[in-house]
Amino acid sequence: MKETLVLKVNSRKPEIDKVRVAAELIRQGGLVAFPTETVYGLGADALNSRAILALFEAKKRPLDNPPIVHVENVSDVYKLAKQIPAKAERLMSKFWPGPLTLVFRRSDLVPDVTVAGLDTIAIRMPLHKVALALIRESGRPIAAPSANLSGKPSPTSAKHVIDDLNGSIDAILDSGSTRIGVESTVLDLSVSPPTVLRPGGTPFETLKKALGDVKLHPLIVAEKEMSIDKAPSPGMKHKHYAPNAKVILVEGSVQAVVREVKKLTDSYRLEGAKVGVLATDETMKAYKADVVKSVGSRFNLAVVAQNLFRLLREFDNEGVDVIMAEGVSVDGLGLAVMNRLRKASGYNIVKAD
Ligand code: TXA
Ligand code: MG
Repeated sequence: MKETLVLKVNSRKPEIDKVRVAAELIRQGGLVAFPTETVYGLGADALNSRAILALFEAKKRPLDNPPIVHVENVSDVYKLAKQIPAKAERLMSKFWPGPLTLVFRRSDLVPDVTVAGLDTIAIRMPLHKVALALIRESGRPIAAPSANLSGKPSPTSAKHVIDDLNGSIDAILDSGSTRIGVESTVLDLSVSPPTVLRPGGTPFETLKKALGDVKLHPLIVAEKEMSIDKAPSPGMKHKHYAPNAKVILVEGSVQAVVREVKKLTDSYRLEGAKVGVLATDETMKAYKADVVKSVGSRFNLAVVAQNLFRLLREFDNEGVDVIMAEGVSVDGLGLAVMNRLRKASGYNIVKAD
């Protein structure tokens, strides 16, 4: 077990000496967690196979699920990827830095482990001063999956990273809570039309406006676990975002959802289970469960996204056996929220009416 160095860094004016300590660790093949606008990432030199193997090991992540590579300038994209379509240049200038990851054909510069043997690579430029400074100072593209243990909810604060990875990573740059709270949108540009493989911080509606022709991969809209052998995004087929508690997602009109959550809560409690309800501002007063938490207003999905992963972790800390989660709208950031909740529930979805 190594000592994990915690470096507190100002998110608006990162202290360069601290960033340099972290950057040196990256250059030496170490693992450094850092904040982005979406969630905390666990960074390693994307061009160093040994560092990438250590990254998978620390997260206990299956080797077939490649991380996203983070850059701080567009010219690096031309080194890491090839056959970059004109559309990509438009997207990069419009949405970068920001919560949009683009999947390209990869170049030969990239080690096989970094892309899990695929012939594509996922790249993004994060909108966070600390992340950009770390990439710049290390002089390397930084591979960074979310800095959680594989399968757990992504970390939206340094505390979450410590809870999962303390002692198995070299350092963490701590700049407080992340702003968006769900991961970036992953858009595959190696296919036509461009296809969203993971909904995230850049809403589908926004991409549609920019691209015209863009589709959602069928697995994203799926409300059941779909079995496909060759998922286009390896992350699609792995268990994800799951707290220890069993999650039941209840979808439908608000009144029907409240009625169903109450009914399920009562029956689980009768069986002796400790029940948590993931409610919204509009509904939380309606429940009498062991733990009731509001994820925010149904009418402010940005706040819901911001709170989601933190609350899933809090329920675990309170030791609940079951979490009843209310569904929200799939508009805007709601699609990412609902995708995470569906996965967290293992597609244990109740339709209330
Ligand atoms: O917001 C984010 O994207 C965060 C922060 C740290 O930047 N990162 C993140 O990384 O969420 P990760 O590794 O947890 O998720 C990456 C997703 C996975 O679902 C993975 O399967 C997919 O991107 N992915 C990576 N490379 C891919 C590729 N070449 N083709 C398709 N999907 C890919
Ligand atoms: Mg992840």
